[in-house]
Amino acid sequence: MVDELGDITGKTVIDIGCGTGELAIVLARRVGRGGKVIGVDPEDRRIAIASQRAADHPELRVSFFVGTASDIVRIVDQQEVGQIDIVVMSSVLHWIEDKPAALRAIHSILAPGGMFGSSSGSGVKHPLEKKDNVLSQEPFRGYRKEGAAEFVSENELRALLVNAGFRVDTLSHLDEMVEFDNGAAAMGWLNASAFGNFTHVEYLPPGLQALATERIEEAYATIADATGVTGFPVTMLIVTASKNAV
Ligand SMILES: C[S@@+](CC[C@H](N)C(=O)[O-])C[C@H]1O[C@@H](n2cnc3c(N)ncnc32)[C@H](O)[C@@H]1O
Repeated sequence: MVDELGDITGKTVIDIGCGTGELAIVLARRVGRGGKVIGVDPEDRRIAIASQRAADHPELRVSFFVGTASDIVRIVDQQEVGQIDIVVMSSVLHWIEDKPAALRAIHSILAPGGMFGSSSGSGVKHPLEKKDNVLSQEPFRGYRKEGAAEFVSENELRALLVNAGFRVDTLSHLDEMVEFDNGAAAMGWLNASAFGNFTHVEYLPPGLQALATERIEEAYATIADATGVTGFPVTMLIVTASKNAV
């Protein structure tokens, strides 16, 4: 996705949902001293790690702030609203609840001709359905759930972008199989990459969390092959879009 943005030397780039800042550091190297990178993420612990990375690289122009995609107009310097060259989101869109509002906010901070690049999950129903099946049964049903990933299809993504004012330049998908030695390892990966949202056990009363985890792991074990390997088909949608130049 980053390669599809072309030469970004000297550009101002915002990395929304930057996590611990790995991609932002790569981008900061690419923009050089003539550009800059701003990373934004709602998780303050991730931003603390990212800020430490920035401190370790004083030669790079990169800074990090706590916030969400929908907050982005407030986070960016007011003189820079409507002047940003590029916004990227890597594995983030599926976590955003109000996608139209987030995409409108991103569109509004971009300069005319500015670019948006995103990679996001699509069609990873398999592990989510397993988890939902477990948690919709007793004794877990009835407890509040929030923060679930919501995947969009290629057509839905295209419509979301067009409705937010973008022109879609490229849209492709990458299909891969992510494999683990067993159900527990699979769930560990889902938890790490999804800060617990995939399993939804945090919202359960503490006394039920271990049982829920065990049941979800058992459910994942049922999709293991004969050697015990558990595989999830993962589809990533990779899109670049631009704001019409006026
Ligand atoms: C799977 S991680 C991806 C991290 C990083 N972009 C990467 O590629 O390694 C998803 C990130 O999205 C962030 N996130 C979740 N909801 C968000 C929102 N509404 N706005 C911005 N970021 C969000 C999470 O805190 C998390 O760091």
